[in-house]
Amino acid sequence: MSKLKLAVLAGGSSIEREVSFRSAENILKNLDSEKYDIHTIELPKDKRDTAWVSQLMALHPDFVLSALHGGRGENGAVQGLLQCLDIPYSGSGILSCALCMNKQAAKSIMEGAHIPVIDGEFIPLEADLNAFEQKLDRLEYPLIAKPNRGGSSIGIEVANDFDALKKAVENIRKQYDDDAVIEKYIDGKEVTCAVVQTDEGLKIMSVLDINKSKGIYDYDAKYLSTQSAVSFTTLPDYMKTMIEDIAVKAFNVLHCKGYGCVDMLVKDEQIYVIEINTLPGMTDHSLIPAAAAQSGMNLSEFLDILIKQRIK
Ligand SMILES: Nc1ncnc2c1ncn2[C@@H]1O[C@H](COP(=O)(O)OP(=O)(O)O)[C@@H](O)[C@H]1O
Ligand SMILES: [Mg+2]
Repeated sequence: MSKLKLAVLAGGSSIEREVSFRSAENILKNLDSEKYDIHTIELPKDKRDTAWVSQLMALHPDFVLSALHGGRGENGAVQGLLQCLDIPYSGSGILSCALCMNKQAAKSIMEGAHIPVIDGEFIPLEADLNAFEQKLDRLEYPLIAKPNRGGSSIGIEVANDFDALKKAVENIRKQYDDDAVIEKYIDGKEVTCAVVQTDEGLKIMSVLDINKSKGIYDYDAKYLSTQSAVSFTTLPDYMKTMIEDIAVKAFNVLHCKGYGCVDMLVKDEQIYVIEINTLPGMTDHSLIPAAAAQSGMNLSEFLDILIKQRIK
């Protein structure tokens, strides 16, 4: 039997380009070359350079494993291209990627489905910031400001007053050309629930505690620190069950597929969903390999499941 032709997509033009290379490296290390004919396609930094599309069309792999994070790789655009080319791929489809990469859109849908999210305000790119002062005061500081379409905690700041918040939003506008999502800062325990679709249905891989050394789980802790940022949750079983139920509900309501990580904050027994990552990191430092290990799988077995689910 001929081997399945796989293409791993890596790089891209988003600010998470370097993280993508590290995810790809780890994926390549864990794919079985006895089973798969493996190719890597690098998406360039320059969005206008489309040579990779020709490369992909010429190769026409049986399956694409995406190691892309952020930007077009995670917002549904690359998924749309793959769909046009009739190439099956790992993870969520166009709709859920687009929704989950837009924090405000995902929050609105979750709210509508009675999934607990954090109170906040949406500040469009062109809006007059001063018009929001009173509304933000009512939310009560500290507040957190995030780029609506950001990732990897880049551009996120905690503000203790309106002046600091204005600076954070101006920075989001200037650096990332993005709308801002403002939320109450929840000084709670952070957890992530990793899920994967298997033949038996949606399976919870693990609920992991995020061990933040600072106020937020920032870029350094996610990718640079040598200390393990995650451990099996110490929350009591009844909380863990609630977290798992909320994760499944959020995954389904946002039409996610394949796998994903549902990030949450827990304070005073109240659980809030922060976001769903449709293409979570796969670096040797990331949550997915840790969650897979918790559920008794190594990364190779996890990747096999992703491929098998789509190629039957
Ligand atoms: N409302 C909040 N209160 C406290 N911490 C938060 C809040 N929202 C986000 N964070 C912290 O910031 C990190 C990144 O936020 P998130 O919304 O997941 O953006 P990104 O897409 O950049 O990962 C979270 O993992 C968490 O540590
Ligand atoms: Mg996040």
